[in-house]
Amino acid sequence: MMRSILPFLGLTLSTAAFIHPGALHTAEDFTRINTYLSNQVEPHNTTWNLLTASTYAQSTYQPTPKETVYRGYNGVDSENYPSLYRDTAAAYQLAIRWRITNDTSYADAAINILSSWAASLVAIEGTSDKFLASGLYGYQMANAAELMSDYTGWDSSNKTATGTMLTNVFAAMNTRFMEEHNGQDYYHYYANWDLCNLASLLAIGIFTDNQTMYDYALEYVRTGPSNGALPVFAIANYTESGSEKILTQGQEAGRDQGHSTLDMVLFGIVAQQAYNQGDDLFAEYGNEILNAAEYAAKYNVGYDVPYTLYESYQGPQSVISNNSRGVVRPGFELLSAHYGQVKGLDSYWTDSYRDWVNVNSTNGVEGGGGNYGPNSGGFDGLGFGSLLYRISDDLF
Ligand SMILES: *[C@@H]1O[C@H](CO)[C@@H](O)[C@H](O)[C@H]1NC(C)=O
Ligand SMILES: *[C@@H]1O[C@H](CO)[C@@H](O)[C@H](O)[C@H]1NC(C)=O
Ligand SMILES: *[C@@H]1O[C@H](CO)[C@@H](O)[C@H](O)[C@H]1NC(C)=O
Ligand SMILES: *[C@@H]1O[C@H](CO)[C@@H](O)[C@H](O)[C@H]1NC(C)=O
Ligand SMILES: *[C@@H]1O[C@H](CO)[C@@H](O)[C@H](O)[C@H]1NC(C)=O
Ligand SMILES: *[C@@H]1O[C@H](CO)[C@@H](O)[C@H](O)[C@H]1NC(C)=O
Ligand SMILES: *[C@@H]1O[C@H](CO)[C@@H](O)[C@H](O)[C@H]1NC(C)=O
Repeated sequence: MMRSILPFLGLTLSTAAFIHPGALHTAEDFTRINTYLSNQVEPHNTTWNLLTASTYAQSTYQPTPKETVYRGYNGVDSENYPSLYRDTAAAYQLAIRWRITNDTSYADAAINILSSWAASLVAIEGTSDKFLASGLYGYQMANAAELMSDYTGWDSSNKTATGTMLTNVFAAMNTRFMEEHNGQDYYHYYANWDLCNLASLLAIGIFTDNQTMYDYALEYVRTGPSNGALPVFAIANYTESGSEKILTQGQEAGRDQGHSTLDMVLFGIVAQQAYNQGDDLFAEYGNEILNAAEYAAKYNVGYDVPYTLYESYQGPQSVISNNSRGVVRPGFELLSAHYGQVKGLDSYWTDSYRDWVNVNSTNGVEGGGGNYGPNSGGFDGLGFGSLLYRISDDLF
């Protein structure tokens, strides 16, 4: 079975059961978060207040599920994918709110969103952008479902239906994208396309206890042949004078900074999900994800970085792109928390970009879906990292 899916990877199949909840967040995370909140520690308290004020975190939230979602105008069907990213953000924010408060009105609102999409969604269409929808909203919906996985009020057939929908609609497209790249060669699609689809396979594998799916994505990140795989993503390493740290130029540095920061946000999601199952992608290739985050972060907070010409599928990119330099994109809280706080490594530039994003955000903390505008870019990450990942030394 695995050979026919991905014959070029040497897979080691593990037999250990999955930890639940265990995609982006574990039960221990919520114990820590609740301790901070009961002591009104910052920035957690302020981030919690931002979350509870969110349009997407209200128990009255009503989803608008579709039978077919369209992302990218194909000349015939109107795009309707904002329904999917809004409802998915809501399912996630409500699930977080339930886990922190135990108030079942949030749990019921979250599973209502998930179950109603499970009852209606059959396909994602549009242009090639449909594969961004399968990746981004796949990992997000699976994370919402995973947070709800131990809610006893979730009707078991509706929970199963949610897993089946995630597998048959999202994961099927995720796998197809990783295998076929929409009919293009391995270099055609920039890294973020792979990364969101890999994040989705990991999350759906965890939620549905599908070891085959999880292992496929894990090994693809480690040894795969296309731009989102760790060995392909790193274009060049540089030693930073002074710190003597390695900074790694990522695959989208010459394209634009919106995407080069998105790559790091998605790598963080991929690695956090695996880490919570005992697989430390963060550490691999000499902490490549940190080194690449440091490079992207340093440039985006206003410092120059070295650059090596990159031959993209669109032609040579001979200078780093200043397009959207300094973009305000949530997601670096996770990277700072893991590398700087959990591992105790030098994450100076990653922390600087995290802070840059926060000072430019509502209330000076990392927000989530709904806090960064109405368009899809504001919903690419799940956010609220200043609550969910930040470790405070102040308390203990
Ligand atoms: C924490 O948030 C609450 C609102 O939920 C607010 O009343 C309180 O002042 C905040 N605590 C601190 C220390 O800022
Ligand atoms: C929520 O429930 C869990 C498990 O029953 C318990 O450990 C936790 O303390 C509760 N949290 C709150 C905020 O009541
Ligand atoms: C299952 O989900 C459907 C679709 O949202 C809903 O109409 C139904 O009430 C749910 N069933 C139960 C038992 O909760
Ligand atoms: C588990 O994942 C594999 C690979 O994606 C897929 O072929 C298989 O159908 C999945 N199993 C179930 C029970 O959905
Ligand atoms: C960058 O450094 C890492 C860690 O030492 C190494 O695995 C990788 O091959 C290097 N990449 C390039 C492009 O030099
Ligand atoms: C941005 O990059 C272009 C192309 O290299 C360059 O011409 C322009 O001066 C740069 N703008 C700024 C503000 O650095
Ligand atoms: C974000 O904050 C930095 C540092 O305070 C500031 O220099 C920059 O102009 C801000 N960027 C945006 C897009 O608001």
